[in-house]
Amino acid sequence: AEGLPKPTKSFSEKYSALITGGFFFLWYFLNVIFNIINKKVYNYFPYPFFVSLVHLLVGVAYCLVCWAIGLPKRAPINKDLLLLLTPVALCHALGHVMSNVSFAAVAVSFTHTIKALEPFFNAAASQFVLGHQIPLSLWLSLAPVVIGVSMASLTELSFNWTGFVSAMISNIAFTYRSIYSKKAMTDMDSTNVYAYISIIALLVCIPPAVIIEGPKLMQHGFADAIAKVGLQKFISDLFWVGMFYHLYNQIATNTLERVAPLTHAVGNVLKRVFVIGFSIVVFGNKISTQTGIGTAIAIAGVAMYSLIKANIEEQKRKAASAAATAA
Ligand code: 3PG
Repeated sequence: AEGLPKPTKSFSEKYSALITGGFFFLWYFLNVIFNIINKKVYNYFPYPFFVSLVHLLVGVAYCLVCWAIGLPKRAPINKDLLLLLTPVALCHALGHVMSNVSFAAVAVSFTHTIKALEPFFNAAASQFVLGHQIPLSLWLSLAPVVIGVSMASLTELSFNWTGFVSAMISNIAFTYRSIYSKKAMTDMDSTNVYAYISIIALLVCIPPAVIIEGPKLMQHGFADAIAKVGLQKFISDLFWVGMFYHLYNQIATNTLERVAPLTHAVGNVLKRVFVIGFSIVVFGNKISTQTGIGTAIAIAGVAMYSLIKANIEEQKRKAASAAATAA
């Protein structure tokens, strides 16, 4: 075999794991910065419907510039594709606005603690909406998650019902987003898919922002913010928060293209650990001991749930391949 040319691996094949790690790092990094700037904006400009709209608007403007220079090239869209992406975008918009209502109402760490329940909502939807049988062991492994979040909520110093309920609604919306995303699997690359989803979500978010916050913004909302921080800082904060929002979501979507959905879901919970930690440090939030312990139990519970789920999926895969070999 001496003279045979060795199969050459491309750079991306050779360093695939390293590149995937880089995606995770970038996703977390952008998300932590997004969460910090976002909360700083809410501290002087408490208008989450409008700010959510700005996040999407900056993202869409960025996508249009990228398409204009061909990086990436715009994928063609047609009515069928649009019909597939619309439910995903509707859930994306609702989950996004509701997360932001919660961010504006309570401590960032608390919103993310509630959002750590997302795998629980996914499991519930899988069983009760899609009719998949979830084994009892998997349900039991979610008990610490629910207990931990409840413990954390009971003594959360920034607790209020608006913050709690809106974060719960965002969990439901994002669970439906993942159900519809699976149905909307297309050949389009993830960056283009996310660009189209952002455009539809932007259009959806305009009416509620105008109706719910428009009058207050015109009366004093904008004027108050400008009086507090100045026009230049106000505009630059809104621009940067929108850029970080778009980029972290785009990288999250690109990461999903590289790893299994379960790995991505676990990665998303780990992301919340970082955000919770950094936000507590940056904002100097006080958290009670019970809230700290509850948050830790919830996150350990999610890790346990993910391990059990990965195990079950591995067994299913083995059984399927054994059945295929036998046939
Ligand atoms: C949003 O603004 O949509 C929220 O930040 C979503 O949070 P997540 O991406 O961490 O679920």
